Amino acid sequence: MTDEKNQGTLWASAKTSELSPPYHPLIRELAAEKNLPEDSMKSLLTHLFSPEAEKDRQFLYENARKTANETFGNKVYLRGLIEFTNYCRNDCYYCGIRAGNKKASRYRLTREEILECCHEGHDLGLHTFVLQGGEDMAYSPQDVADLVSSIKATFPDCAVTLSIGERSHEDYLLWYEAGADRYLLRHETADEAHYHRLHPKNLSLKHRMDCLYDLKSIGYQTGAGFMVGSPGQTIDTLLEDLAFLKKLKPEMIGIGPFIPHKDTPFAREAAGSMTQTLVLLSILRLMHPKALLPSTTALSTIAENGRELGILAGGNVVMPNLSPGSVRKKYMLYNNKRSDGSEAAQHIDELARRFEAIGYTIDFGRGDAPSHTL
Ligand code: 5AD
Repeated sequence: MTDEKNQGTLWASAKTSELSPPYHPLIRELAAEKNLPEDSMKSLLTHLFSPEAEKDRQFLYENARKTANETFGNKVYLRGLIEFTNYCRNDCYYCGIRAGNKKASRYRLTREEILECCHEGHDLGLHTFVLQGGEDMAYSPQDVADLVSSIKATFPDCAVTLSIGERSHEDYLLWYEAGADRYLLRHETADEAHYHRLHPKNLSLKHRMDCLYDLKSIGYQTGAGFMVGSPGQTIDTLLEDLAFLKKLKPEMIGIGPFIPHKDTPFAREAAGSMTQTLVLLSILRLMHPKALLPSTTALSTIAENGRELGILAGGNVVMPNLSPGSVRKKYMLYNNKRSDGSEAAQHIDELARRFEAIGYTIDFGRGDAPSHTL
């Protein structure tokens, strides 16, 4: 190498280190302020997604764990997930149970079957039931209300969470009055153009957001969230997600990697990455210290130890599957979605052992969200 070239290289590296922001102070600022100015957040996120940032990522995860610990101790909350129908009126391009997927084998559970799942979950020690399904109009609003009130009457010590999509104010209110405590509705992306890349024309970001604000104003503990690495997602759309969540202040935030489903328009798209999901989970933990953050099934689908990694990045909730064995494989939102082994509520012992191995214990309570105002 000539002197001249050498000097050039030295200068370039000096310039890079001079210009690149020191990332640990930025992470500390994020932890202290629960937010960052947009340009700082952009450079932090860009850096943390780069392969050479492993040490900084570890520093971020440590901070997120510490923050989660201050509110929740070393506890992981459990929610029993009952996927009660895979019929759906919508045609979201990413989702395996979209209306247009003629290969999906459809099912819906009866009220008795759903109550049976709750009994099984209650016997296993669970105190939250999440009723999730596609937007299936075969259950009338009153059917859902009756279902909620029978679960609450049978298990007065349990919380009921609904996750059944975009509905009218009247329906949300009816179900809240019937006793539903929480509602999960991921916003999927807070960027208008990106929203249209993921959804058909009849669906709008505005309506989705209106539903979320409505749920909050009714009094539900409300969950929003998004997929990581969905087609068309960029650092800028992620910044919009972070800003929207800051504004909404949801009690719960669910994120997981996008995973393609073979019978959808996104069959050939790349899956979201573990690293990006963990980084975002930790950033969300620092921005929302008291939020409930699940370590999702999608994470454990892309890596055997995904659940544990999610907890170690600041997550504090897991949702074991309580759906009847006969239908579990049919709620296939994406390829190879896991529902067996430690994903199954029946194997909570195994889950408990796995969490113990990383220093966490399972909390069998209802696990309500601490108030944001505290
Ligand atoms: N990959 C990952 N997550 C998905 N979901 C739907 N389809 C996929 C997919 N292909 C998520 C959506 C939805 C939640 C129930 O599952 O974010 O809100």
